[in-house]
Amino acid sequence: MEEKYTQILERIYSEISPLITRGKVADYIPELGKVDPNQFGMSVCTNSGHEYIIGNSQKSFSIQSISKVFTLVLAYSKLDRKLWERVGREPSGTRFDSLVLLENEEGIPRNPFINAGAIVVVDILLDLYEDPINEVLKFVRELSGNEDIFINEKVRDSELECANRNYALTYFMKSFGNIRNDVSTVIEAYTSICSIEMSCVDLARSFRLFSSNGENPWNGKRILTKSQNKRMNAIMMTCGLYNSVGDFAYRVGIPAKSGVGGGIVGVIPNEMSISTWSPCLDKTGNSLAGIKALELFTTYSEQSIY
Ligand code: DON
Repeated sequence: MEEKYTQILERIYSEISPLITRGKVADYIPELGKVDPNQFGMSVCTNSGHEYIIGNSQKSFSIQSISKVFTLVLAYSKLDRKLWERVGREPSGTRFDSLVLLENEEGIPRNPFINAGAIVVVDILLDLYEDPINEVLKFVRELSGNEDIFINEKVRDSELECANRNYALTYFMKSFGNIRNDVSTVIEAYTSICSIEMSCVDLARSFRLFSSNGENPWNGKRILTKSQNKRMNAIMMTCGLYNSVGDFAYRVGIPAKSGVGGGIVGVIPNEMSISTWSPCLDKTGNSLAGIKALELFTTYSEQSIY
């Protein structure tokens, strides 16, 4: 088994190498535009406790929208179904920063993974926790077993300087009463959490939560009920890659979440978690080489949820 995954990762690395610099690094956040595009990492963490890595898998990068999974777990584990009074759970079919559906739906975002939905989740966390930013940091450190996880303040400040669209979304939702805190406080907390840096290894270890039925496999602590965990995986499956979610289900076939820093983390329930990182993005804001690597992984390992 050990050999099988090592060989699969080596084969994937050599096949995706020509794709690594295709696409474009996210530069709408100026600081992210400075990242060296020529990087690729991948990590696989099995439920039997084995770990397989290749490339720049230990290098930290901006997790951006992958953080929306962690904030959702913190809110959902406390509020359970009451959470769905403030945010929907349907795929949006739109860009991650889209405003278009908000008016029809009276300020209730389509799902917790588009920016509007994640911003509502952070607004909820501001009411649930005294220091939600620190709570998320504590949570990812515990899940990954790495105390060395921090916010990149340069990235946060760079995004805050050009966060007009996120401000617009948040003011718009506030006009419907779906944002309870001060708009700047919400945007600052949301942007700080998006600017957390983690490596592929950290992310794959953290997502073992979702392949382990909602229990932190490293210390046995239950974080989500089995049913909540099933639902987290369902939301990743249907909303995790924005307007590419159908194509991703077709090509890869696992629940996953992407971020504009170039990371993607996926889950095969009861089996393993898998992360990839490569900074160049396709037109929908997802890592081009990362998606291909995951497609090859589920093909060569013959493992997916379908
Ligand atoms: O709010 C933003 O635009 C970023 N902080 C996060 C966007 C993101 O990662 C979308 N993912 N593919």
